[in-house]
Amino acid sequence: MKNTVSTFRQAKGQRKLSMLTAYDYTTARIMDGCGVDALLVGDSLGMVMLGHSDTLSVTVDDMVRHCAAVARAADHALVVGDMPYLSYQVSVAETVRNAGRLVTEGRVQAVKLEGGADFVPEVRALVRASIPVMGHLGLTPQSVNALGGYKVQGKSPAAAQKLLDDARALQDAGIFALVLECVPAGLAARVTAELSIPVIGIGAGSGCDGQVLVWQDMLGLGERPAPRFVRQFGALGTAMRESVTAYVAAVQCGEFPSAAQCYAVEDEAGLLERLY
Ligand code: KIV
Repeated sequence: MKNTVSTFRQAKGQRKLSMLTAYDYTTARIMDGCGVDALLVGDSLGMVMLGHSDTLSVTVDDMVRHCAAVARAADHALVVGDMPYLSYQVSVAETVRNAGRLVTEGRVQAVKLEGGADFVPEVRALVRASIPVMGHLGLTPQSVNALGGYKVQGKSPAAAQKLLDDARALQDAGIFALVLECVPAGLAARVTAELSIPVIGIGAGSGCDGQVLVWQDMLGLGERPAPRFVRQFGALGTAMRESVTAYVAAVQCGEFPSAAQCYAVEDEAGLLERLY
């Protein structure tokens, strides 16, 4: 059964939701087969797939291409695509046009955008266009320059109150779920209890309705040490380094390919004799 935004809504208070980022067909196929509830084609792809130092250079074209690859892989998981920086900050009309491309060309079932009450008009317009929206509050990486770095958010009473108010405003505008990134666990639990839609945490404690992680972080493929909130569920980086080192050595010493990896014809000598 294919998950939809209704699956998400119904899960609230019933069971925990799992979401992982995915950016390509092969990886998404494996994750989908493992029963993950949702695949997020995050604009984190700018960092983990394209090697940028932040998410700001990701374009709608980048998102469309990666969303389409993931959507083709997902028989089961809900597929959500991130609206990249400046694709929804300029005007409501551009927001709908860009989100529409993620749906029509990228084949996502929902889009995610960062920001609070300021983006209520954009959220309302998307909902009116039948495009489900996931909100994203707390540490919003597209605002890294305004926030002064990647820091835990909602630590002061005023900041915590603003976050709660933003969450309520987004819910009223029609989002079907909310991502909370890097906020104190108690605040995330309070927001989760307050809202009637699922809240998916990343660095937001165990009181949320579900969790999301960047897959390269949780499988140990990152170059830099992962943030504190990441648990490493595998060591693919180590496995990959060992495998690639073994391949290089096998090629260098002529051990690869061996007979098992070679094609032959019955009368090879005869075949070669005819060549001139
Ligand atoms: O872009 C992304 O991967 C995200 C998650 C970290 C929530 O927005």
